[in-house]
Amino acid sequence: MTNKAENNHKHSDKVLDHFLNPRNIGVIKDASAIGNGGNRECGDVIRLYLDIEGDIIVDSKVKVFGCPVVIACASVLTEMIKGKTVTQALNITNEDISDILDGLPTEKLHCSELAEAVLRDAISHYKENPVEA
Ligand code: FES
Repeated sequence: MTNKAENNHKHSDKVLDHFLNPRNIGVIKDASAIGNGGNRECGDVIRLYLDIEGDIIVDSKVKVFGCPVVIACASVLTEMIKGKTVTQALNITNEDISDILDGLPTEKLHCSELAEAVLRDAISHYKENPVEA
């Protein structure tokens, strides 16, 4: 697919929107699962909270420290997973995150990879210890 952001070397309007108005920033007290991840090279980190009821992700919040693109990726991820089953959420890839943001520059693809990794970390903890919030 065409990577609009890569073609013009600028961030897409969707990246800018999610960076300037990040969705679902915060913490879920007594979350069903928490995922953590970071990139050692750039230092960016994400903590993702999931509230899961009957295998459905009913709420998701995130704390993120990092570049504008990782903030946008974390923000859009919370919107992508709400209402999905745990299995459906596991099918979300970093390419899906990049696509929904209308593409990321090549050097920023690792931001979407970090968001995917944190989602997988949260779900793996849920599968090990499936508590409902
Ligand atoms: Fe490393 Fe964004 S620059 S996650």
